[in-house]
Amino acid sequence: MTILDQPQTKFEKIPIKLFDAPNDASHHVAKKIAKLIRERQAKGQKAVLGLATGATPLEVYEELIRMHREEDLSFQNVITFNLDEYYPLAPDSPQSYNFYMDHYLFDHIDIPKENINVPLGTVSSEEISQYCEDYEAKIDEVGGIDIQLLGIGRTGHIGFNEPGSHLHSQTRVVKLDPLTISDATREFIKEEYVPRMAITMGIKSIFKARKVYLLAWGEKKAKVVSQAVEGEITGEIPASYLQNHPNVKFLLDKWAGQHLSRFKTPWLTGFCEWDDFLRKRAVIWLSMKLGKPILKLTDRDYKENDLGELIPLPNYSQQLNVEIFDQLQHTITGWPGGKPDADDTNRPERATPAKKRVIVFSPHPDDDVISMGGTLLKLVEQGHDVHVAYQTSGNIAVFDDDAMRFAEFVKFLELKDAKSTGHYEEIHRQVVEDLSKKKQGEKDSDIVRSIKGLIRRGEATAACRFCEVKDENVHFLNMPFYETGGVQKKGLGEDDIRIVADLIQKVQPHQIFAAGDLRDPHGTHKVCLDAIFGALKSLKSESWIKDCNLWLYRGAWQEWDVEEIEMAIPLSPMDVMKKRKAIFKHQSQKDHPVFPGEDNREFWQRAEERNSTTAKLYDRLGLTEYEGIEAFVKYNY
Ligand code: F6R
Repeated sequence: MTILDQPQTKFEKIPIKLFDAPNDASHHVAKKIAKLIRERQAKGQKAVLGLATGATPLEVYEELIRMHREEDLSFQNVITFNLDEYYPLAPDSPQSYNFYMDHYLFDHIDIPKENINVPLGTVSSEEISQYCEDYEAKIDEVGGIDIQLLGIGRTGHIGFNEPGSHLHSQTRVVKLDPLTISDATREFIKEEYVPRMAITMGIKSIFKARKVYLLAWGEKKAKVVSQAVEGEITGEIPASYLQNHPNVKFLLDKWAGQHLSRFKTPWLTGFCEWDDFLRKRAVIWLSMKLGKPILKLTDRDYKENDLGELIPLPNYSQQLNVEIFDQLQHTITGWPGGKPDADDTNRPERATPAKKRVIVFSPHPDDDVISMGGTLLKLVEQGHDVHVAYQTSGNIAVFDDDAMRFAEFVKFLELKDAKSTGHYEEIHRQVVEDLSKKKQGEKDSDIVRSIKGLIRRGEATAACRFCEVKDENVHFLNMPFYETGGVQKKGLGEDDIRIVADLIQKVQPHQIFAAGDLRDPHGTHKVCLDAIFGALKSLKSESWIKDCNLWLYRGAWQEWDVEEIEMAIPLSPMDVMKKRKAIFKHQSQKDHPVFPGEDNREFWQRAEERNSTTAKLYDRLGLTEYEGIEAFVKYNY
């Protein structure tokens, strides 16, 4: 039995089903939907589906479309009700859920148009109350929802029932939570473009569904999922109301489930298969819980905190404490490329060759310095041949006014040039025209995109120069999967993998550093990492590849858990300051980046906070106190 299919633990108040990947879970739910539709068809009856939008259910819809095309699944007997819509927002706006549903499902299946119900974001304020009542009544008229699909927001919302929503709420207009608005900025580009309100089915409306599946993928959802499943029922986490639904199941990929007690603290659940990693995690957990350094933990501390199993003999805590302390101690090194002429038995990286060839892959043109700027500076200082490879152009994350500023610069250059041909002026004219015609949230023209890409290229070049990486060692890969001009990217293609493989083949590195965001299934970082995995696979017959270590850093958003860290690079206050200056070279991302993500702080602030948090954790566990620590995990490929 694996941890994924263990029975429900005593902490889980909602049945869950865990999957290795979102794809498996999406196919599972698509099959359930198809089964219902076919059973009802056989009886000449309708099937009523409650549908959600957002990133989560996309693969469910893809699979339903495939079943329609390849397995004759007809939707003629299907009636649908969508959970919600932004308000106010026109249905033909690319960010509207009406547009989304047509684009990702309805346009590709044979559902009768009159059977589709998606709240309309253009109903007038005078009519909206009646409209919501009618929407609710219509669901009741058709006999209620058979299967309701839900996603979950980071606020714990289901539909747009934000914290504070009442158990008896019905379809209505609600105000969006600031966190939801910040998450929606991904689609709307600027926060001020996100509508402040939405129409949403209520908690009571959702409760009327006969079967509810809530889907969640990726680490970003892990915390709120565990609160909903294991926490108290509270209006502050509306999804927790589902603990009282008689027929609900949460379908999770393993990363969305990772904060559940079965993963975090399995020794508390009764299902615990001890291995070295879990012992380490348990000791760190105990030390944190009691606020005591590892070397001060006693037999009694273990026994009183459900960890008696780790103490088979009296005084065994001393031995265990030293073992785990040493493991942590051995992760710390000021020599990320290995310490020349030193005994490397207990060091994270080999001593030889003393001068290594290194490639630092950076998904966007700033992840390198944000996530491992201190390490990058040390690698260069310590004489390694360091290459930096920017995997994508990052062109969608530049504000229009910055593009305009650079177009103006080009025009002024032309005016100063006696031999001017008018070419630069034409570029400027085109940029002004394209940007003035651009509607809210629309994609940029080719010329604007290329200017935005060049802005980021210039910044990355400046940051590398500041870190003293040689100009010829800075590579801009411009991987094609990224170049859609929008937030939605293409899937990883052969071309992307080949571009990465060509560089690795050319450099034949001893070390590769890459953004290891394994747990965000659809993010750009994961696609960039998959390209590296694909490239390494294609090169596996090369003799030099056996000598290449792959070290993973985390992106701008999270850090590894302490028990996972295999190389910890300490930073002095001077190192931290130097790293900050390298991040400052990315001027288009300063103050307010286009995609701030879940955090309103600037990237340098987040990076410093993260590095100092890791350092404080090491300190609290009883290790040396540093100003900051950058953390890496070694990946066996
Ligand atoms: C969408 C909806 C929302 C989303 C939730 C998660 O119709 O009702 O509750 O399900 O915000 O969004 P994603 O899937 O984009 O993470």
